[in-house]
Amino acid sequence: MNITGNTILITGGTSGIGRALAEALHAKGNTVIVAGRRQQLLDEITQKNPGIVGLPLDVADTNSIHSFVAQVKERFPKLNVLVNNAGIARPEDYTADDVDTAAALATLQTNITSVIQLTAGLLPTLRAQPKSTLMVTTSGLAFVPFPKAPVYSATKAFLHNWLDALRYQLRETSVEVLELAPPYVQTEFGGPQQATDPRAMPLDAFTNEVVQILEDNKIEKGEILVENVKPLRWAEKNGQYQQMLEMFGSF
Ligand SMILES: NC(=O)c1ccc[n+]([C@@H]2O[C@H](COP(=O)([O-])OP(=O)(O)OC[C@H]3O[C@@H](n4cnc5c(N)ncnc54)[C@H](OP(=O)(O)O)[C@@H]3O)[C@@H](O)[C@H]2O)c1
Repeated sequence: MNITGNTILITGGTSGIGRALAEALHAKGNTVIVAGRRQQLLDEITQKNPGIVGLPLDVADTNSIHSFVAQVKERFPKLNVLVNNAGIARPEDYTADDVDTAAALATLQTNITSVIQLTAGLLPTLRAQPKSTLMVTTSGLAFVPFPKAPVYSATKAFLHNWLDALRYQLRETSVEVLELAPPYVQTEFGGPQQATDPRAMPLDAFTNEVVQILEDNKIEKGEILVENVKPLRWAEKNGQYQQMLEMFGSF
């Protein structure tokens, strides 16, 4: 994708990776729309970054998704980049007698169903542009699961596989299909302590590397991979899968 001159919608744009990418891409001369539930953060972001548009969206609510898609089509007919980035992770313990299936279903809706719904709703707009991008945030855990978050890890593996199929289907359209697979990054995704966890990649370093990959078009078969995620991405090929699974299991 070109790094400038786009109209970009980022879900999960109120914090963490989504917000950092939104601000970086805004600074590069794109029209950026951020979406999320926390109105206070949408207001803060739009105040700090004149030009960024904030739109409320709850991806756990199908009605919210439908009205959001209609609003985006009406207000931003030139939308040419959709970044499905909103996501949640919940721990599940399958050794317990009462496995928290409600948490699993919420994760499926947020991480998978809503991505399908938003993509299906906005692909006609993307396809109508001369050059467009569908991007989805997956995770290094798509390639080696984190045993404490089985459904979360599996949603990201689902998205990886789904994106491969979409990339093939859309190969003769104007839509490029990209997967952003972050490593462990310093955001509040897994709780406030993650934002300062020294084992996680600093958010600004991650964002800068992603923007550089986009600028240099160093995208490998549709995948945006910073250096830190490559051990996970290629664990199976490199014979490291079981070792990494066991290391994650010990956390
Ligand atoms: N940080 C990591 O280590 C890491 C690693 C690999 C992949 N990822 C992925 O990166 C993406 C962003 O995560 P992050 O690290 O930036 O964490 P984050 O700061 O918690 O961001 C999550 C975003 O998702 C949005 N969201 C969650 N539920 C939503 C809902 N029902 N409706 C609308 N928006 C919702 C949140 O916005 P509101 O709360 O305002 O709705 C927030 O903006 C996720 O898909 C995550 O799986 C993160």
